[in-house]
Amino acid sequence: MPRVYHLSDIHVGSAHFLPELLERLIEEIRAERPDLVVVAGDLTDKGLPHQYAEAKRWIDRIEAPLLLTPGNHDSRNVGYVHFEELFGARYRTHRLPGVYLVAADSSEPDLDEGRIGRTIYPWLEEAFHRAPEGAVRVFVTHHHLLPVPGAGRERNILQDAGDLLRLLVEHEVDLVLTGHKHVPWVWRFEGMLIVNAGTAATNRVRGKGHPSYAVIDLGPDRVTVRQRYYGARPDEVYHHPLTKGVIPR
Ligand SMILES: [Fe+2]
Ligand SMILES: [Fe+2]
Repeated sequence: MPRVYHLSDIHVGSAHFLPELLERLIEEIRAERPDLVVVAGDLTDKGLPHQYAEAKRWIDRIEAPLLLTPGNHDSRNVGYVHFEELFGARYRTHRLPGVYLVAADSSEPDLDEGRIGRTIYPWLEEAFHRAPEGAVRVFVTHHHLLPVPGAGRERNILQDAGDLLRLLVEHEVDLVLTGHKHVPWVWRFEGMLIVNAGTAATNRVRGKGHPSYAVIDLGPDRVTVRQRYYGARPDEVYHHPLTKGVIPR
């Protein structure tokens, strides 16, 4: 049964970065041996070369397969060129047993707003058409697709969230993994489970929030999401039935 760690917004190079939390998380991942670690963007704070170099040193210590996507902070100062050089393509797919993931960059250089953009839709559609029969379909991007409660004024939601949500629903996506707001949340929408990860390694939280990350178990017939807060408060657990089939054990 595939287990995915979903973390986001570590912001290496920021004054808010908490290296001791990232140490703890890397240690937990070493012990838990998940099938995949998703880092849903904002790996760096300003997209600068030395911040990317430091983020790379941290990411290289994660002992699991990785699926990364850049965030708006990573594309600041045209930082996405470093992302491509150090971490690979900004648009990519990944396969786990019974699971098919598609990750897409939602950032634009020096803009906080998110956008996938209609020029990317054909690539997305093609990517989902290549999903193996019966596989659980997962979409990963940085910016949130739906408003996140407790996150202050709503802004920077994907500019083309409506068109993208329709595309994801039409392609029978089961699970969406995002970040950006530094507030963990889960929505159920049109048969999809939409999971927003908080900030995994900064104290730039909102209100009385805590740094957090999500641990997601896929299958055999449901998705289980645990939002974890480094022990500062109990895990929040969500179950979501898989409607298309079961994941092989
Ligand atoms: Fe962030
Ligand atoms: Fe962000």
